[in-house]
Amino acid sequence: MKIKIVDDYEEMSRQGAQIVIDQLIKKPSSVLGLATGSTPVGLYKNLVEAYARGEITFSSVRTVNLDEYIGIRNDNPNSYHAFMQKYLFGKVDIKSENVNIPSGTPANAEIFCKLYNLTLNNLPRDIQILGLGSNGHIGFNEPGTPFKERTHVVRLAQSTINDNARFFSSPEEVPQSAITMGISDIMQAKKIILMASGENKARAVKDMVKGYVTEYCPATSLRNHPDCIVILDRAAAKYI
Ligand code: F6R
Repeated sequence: MKIKIVDDYEEMSRQGAQIVIDQLIKKPSSVLGLATGSTPVGLYKNLVEAYARGEITFSSVRTVNLDEYIGIRNDNPNSYHAFMQKYLFGKVDIKSENVNIPSGTPANAEIFCKLYNLTLNNLPRDIQILGLGSNGHIGFNEPGTPFKERTHVVRLAQSTINDNARFFSSPEEVPQSAITMGISDIMQAKKIILMASGENKARAVKDMVKGYVTEYCPATSLRNHPDCIVILDRAAAKYI
């Protein structure tokens, strides 16, 4: 695990994006594993700007997203489908058939997860982008999730519901469950970029880099990855 500490969110986003930009220049048909939430918004902004300057194209990029809430439709503004459209897909030349995001309304969630695993098997990721939950989750793999787990349905931890309530009009509206790629899926990516900013991530960052490798802090699994870059702003790096 390589750790970079930078001044602020903007620099974190710029450096994270530069790794992706270099990858897309080197291999335009790269497979990207993507995250949602506040953390990668700045990275996506940098990618959109690089695309607008003509430095990169997404015309042959394929993507797989980490997760989606269960029970909200793709066109719900709080869905991760809508998030990706708003911050990245709607602003670049990616082909819709090259985009994969778990369904928020699967007819049969168990079967859906199995099919998503087949998609992941067929799309080895060159880079996986991750944020970090304040409870140490990656994707929606909440504390206690076995490292060997693949795509599965998860009941969200109360702390995750509380953290994500800021996007909804009330905490009661936050879905209670989600579909997430598993930790073993995340670990399959050739390169992982985890970004974290802000003091509310500082404890989880400390556990991730200094604590025991344990399923009770899912992000500690990344210490076993051969090419994981962690980019932190000063506030998130407060306790390391
Ligand atoms: C999102 C995801 C989550 C978030 C994490 C941090 O696709 O998988 O693990 O990365 O909850 O969220 P933010 O960035 O909003 O602090």
